Amino acid sequence: MEVVILPGTKQIGALAADAIEALVRRKPNAVLGLATGSSPLPVYDELASRYEAGGLDFSQAHGFALDEYVGLEAGHPESYREVIRREFTNRVNIKPENVHGPDGAAEDLEAACQGYEDAIKAAGGVDLQILGVGTDGHIGFNEPGSSLASRTRIKTLIEQTRKDNARFFDSIDDVPHHVVTQGLGTIMDARHVVLIATGAQKAQAVRDFVEGPVAAICAASILQMHPHATILVDEAAASSLK
Ligand code: F6R
Repeated sequence: MEVVILPGTKQIGALAADAIEALVRRKPNAVLGLATGSSPLPVYDELASRYEAGGLDFSQAHGFALDEYVGLEAGHPESYREVIRREFTNRVNIKPENVHGPDGAAEDLEAACQGYEDAIKAAGGVDLQILGVGTDGHIGFNEPGSSLASRTRIKTLIEQTRKDNARFFDSIDDVPHHVVTQGLGTIMDARHVVLIATGAQKAQAVRDFVEGPVAAICAASILQMHPHATILVDEAAASSLK
């Protein structure tokens, strides 16, 4: 695990975009793992402006979202499928049919989760997975106590995560209780993982997963076992590291 401390979100966005640009140039049909939330936004902004400037081509690339709420109607602006479209894929030339997300509205959620695992495999696996981290150390929506070997499945959000995400909804009552999320085993299969954490509210989680033991109580700590994990943090998020 390499930890890179940078002055701010602009530099973090640029460094993560450099990794994605290099990948897509080397492998035009690269499979990108896409996170939602605030942390990856500077990366998506940077990639969109590099695409607009010309020369960056996503026409053969694929995208797989990390997770999705259960219970939001199709097209809900805060469904992660919509967020990924709005924040990234609609801003570059990736084909809509090449962008996938777990189906949180499926009647048979278990079958949909298995289908999602199969789709990732059929695409050749994720080349580069972008991640944020929750204040409780979750990645994807693998809340504390998630099995380190877990695959895509249904999870219940803890109250803190619902509070953290209430800023995207009119009220906390509108934040779903359940999600479908790639498991920790699924995330660990990605060839390169780039995790972004910014702001003082992430400092404890960063310290726990970078310097603490590998343990299910802090899901992101599994990344210590990943052969190629890059952690991009600003000074505030790095402030509790020893
Ligand atoms: C989002 C996701 C979550 C977020 C995490 C941090 O797809 O899987 O793990 O990355 O909750 O969210 P932000 O970046 O909004 O602080």
